[in-house]
Amino acid sequence: MQKRTTLRGIAAATLTLGLGLAGSQALAADPIKIGLILPMTGQQATTGRQIDAAVKLYLAQNGNTIAGRKVEVIVKDDATVPDTTRRLAQELVVQEKVVALAGFGITPAAMATAPIATQSKTPMVVMAAATSAITEASPFVVRTSFTLPQAAVAMAEWANKNKIKKVVTLVSDYAPGIDAERYFADRMVLNGGTVVDKLRTPLRSPDFAPVLQKVRDAAPEALYVFLPSGQGAAFMKQFAERGLDKAGIRLIGTGDITDDDQLNDMGDVALGVVTAHHYSANHKSAANQKFVDAFKKANNGMRPNFMAVGGYDGMRVIMEALKVTKGAGGEALLNAMKGQVFESPRGQVLIDAQTRDIVHDMYFRKVERVGGELHNVEFDAIKAMKDPGKQK
Ligand code: DHB
Repeated sequence: MQKRTTLRGIAAATLTLGLGLAGSQALAADPIKIGLILPMTGQQATTGRQIDAAVKLYLAQNGNTIAGRKVEVIVKDDATVPDTTRRLAQELVVQEKVVALAGFGITPAAMATAPIATQSKTPMVVMAAATSAITEASPFVVRTSFTLPQAAVAMAEWANKNKIKKVVTLVSDYAPGIDAERYFADRMVLNGGTVVDKLRTPLRSPDFAPVLQKVRDAAPEALYVFLPSGQGAAFMKQFAERGLDKAGIRLIGTGDITDDDQLNDMGDVALGVVTAHHYSANHKSAANQKFVDAFKKANNGMRPNFMAVGGYDGMRVIMEALKVTKGAGGEALLNAMKGQVFESPRGQVLIDAQTRDIVHDMYFRKVERVGGELHNVEFDAIKAMKDPGKQK
């Protein structure tokens, strides 16, 4: 009896041990999943292409294992439809059990997903969208792109310093455009300037002809423009076709309009355009040179733009945080993202632990021909700029 019990005990113990081992082995083999939701098709597909390539490059350069487990990035295409972004995020959290959500090509996509991040306590890394309020939509949002108020306020300061007093604004008619318009116009007026007209174009299939006619009639010293990544080339073409470049109206804006992805094909109309932005492929640093060379090599010569840098840095923030938590997600992962300081291809950056937003240099750049190619050449900067939208 005694012996039988002991044997049974040993058998049970062996069984438990066996299961335990099998269990931990299975765990060790389980990948750590990250859900990357991007517009891979549709109007903002260039954003998806750039970020996807940058995330792949980061993992190729830095390895894709954490605590002995493989990191698997699951890319989903939301085709720039926010309801789709939200549904994909839900599936990634519930079915795939991702430790982090990332991507988000436009503000409405990020806003639609924020409640899912909050409810499931899943860190959500915004790599593209740039409306100030996104980080306030969920305590689980961390941003590695930029904010429109950063670029808009910087541009207004530059206009004031350069004695540009009478301006017209032209923005895409949705949240980041409203931020770009408001923060620029408010700072212009504060500095004693005048905004004689505020024009807006629809996000989908904009037609610039009617607004450019209005700009011509208003005859400002400068036209300030924000359009989402991918629309700059079409705008520049019409600006030139309508002869506005020859009419003595200076073109200024956030760096989205001289997007490095398209800039080289814009032609002479882009020469001399001054913008404020956080990244230029022409940024002079060893880290950026290495990034640009590797990115081009891996992508058939494609030049990285500011979206690529948002994706590259976002992947860095996630991987470094996963190293701290040894692969765990939730609040621990979020906390490990807060306060990260590192050298990005754009320069020194900080993830502000209080706002979870990015603090970085806002550069002033002028389009010039360098080595036969058009580039945003940086000539000045506002250092370590926080989001002016958080200082209300
Ligand atoms: C947003 C999208 C862009 O393509 C861009 O250049 C800036 C902001 C946005 O929707 O937030």
